Amino acid sequence: MRIEKAKRVEEIPPYLFAEIDRKKAEMRRKGMDLIDLGIGDPDLPTPQPIIERLKKAAENPKHHRYPSYEGMIEFRTAVAQWYQKRFGVTLDAATEVLSLIGSKEGIAHIPLAFVNPGDTVLVPSPGYPVYRVSTLFAGGTPYFLPLRKETGFLPALSEIPRSVAEKSKLLFINYPNNPTAAVAEKSFFEEVVAFARRYQVIVCHDAAYSEVAFDGYRPLSFMEAEGAKEVGIEFHSLSKTFNMTGWRIGFAVGCAEIVSTLGRIKENIDSGLFQAIQEAGIEALHRFETPLTHIISIYERRRNLMVKGLRELGLELEQPKASFYLWIRVPGKQTSSQFAALLLEKAGIVATPGNGFGDAGEGYIRMALTVDESRLKEAIERLKKLNF
Ligand SMILES: Cc1ncc(COP(=O)(O)O)c(C=O)c1O
Repeated sequence: MRIEKAKRVEEIPPYLFAEIDRKKAEMRRKGMDLIDLGIGDPDLPTPQPIIERLKKAAENPKHHRYPSYEGMIEFRTAVAQWYQKRFGVTLDAATEVLSLIGSKEGIAHIPLAFVNPGDTVLVPSPGYPVYRVSTLFAGGTPYFLPLRKETGFLPALSEIPRSVAEKSKLLFINYPNNPTAAVAEKSFFEEVVAFARRYQVIVCHDAAYSEVAFDGYRPLSFMEAEGAKEVGIEFHSLSKTFNMTGWRIGFAVGCAEIVSTLGRIKENIDSGLFQAIQEAGIEALHRFETPLTHIISIYERRRNLMVKGLRELGLELEQPKASFYLWIRVPGKQTSSQFAALLLEKAGIVATPGNGFGDAGEGYIRMALTVDESRLKEAIERLKKLNF
């Protein structure tokens, strides 16, 4: 039988990391010892009390049945309390908080709730690839907002043509940013609220890295901007905050109508989040002051080591205030892909070519600080031997 795929599958580019994984496997087969700075997956373990809570909760037969779609009220209350404590933002746990199977799941589903075929969605470039693909799945058209160094890697909202803004349904933003590591201040979020009101665009702020920040810097929630809760939703994740990428737990907060509409889509797709994992999430949000200082100090040391080492090699990069990414200018006349291929093939270093995050990422590569210091030192030594 000829298996004919849907157009939406044919149209999507291969998932960025799937392609890199294939290349990595090929190099490993050749016996290369790889230092993988490709994917932002924390290498440190989940704190023990969170694991203990899961173990205990897994024994409870109450949790063996279908969970509630929107998440246990106890989990949503823990989220609301954490928001109050961390950002000074008040949320109604019953109507303004929704559990997610990781923030990726919510980001992937939100266009289905608001985008009709032919609608435009404003998507940052470079950006987390799911914004673009989820837009395409809903039949929408992404309009890319370039993130440039000169504007602090913030989108220039005033440059969006009025005709585009008027037909846009969603605006994705993400600070601290993946892949550029840029951060946003309140004045930018206020500008976003004004833009959203003017053009009736729903704002989707991805705050997955809000708790990975250095030198005492505290990233803001979009919800801290006045009026944000009327125009938007914010996606959070326990993945990076508590080293829980494998657990698949996140949440969305914000405008009750936007939150409940996303919930309606999810009701028809998934059946919620294993309640024992939600209990572990409650433990994490209640027990720990975020950011977790011991985790942050490890990333901070890695950041310092790499920024210094890379700059000494003549590479150009900003010292990030947040996220665990380094956004590095490609030297000379090479493309992002050529430079990433050189690093992989000649030094066994996996980095992500910036154009994989969108055309405006061309000219950069991204490195993730998710390997230990000794391997990072080794990476710098290997880079010293390369001629670029
Ligand atoms: C910007 C951004 N948003 C969302 C996610 C998804 O995180 P999770 O689904 O683990 O919550 C990631 C993961 O790398 C990310 O980089």
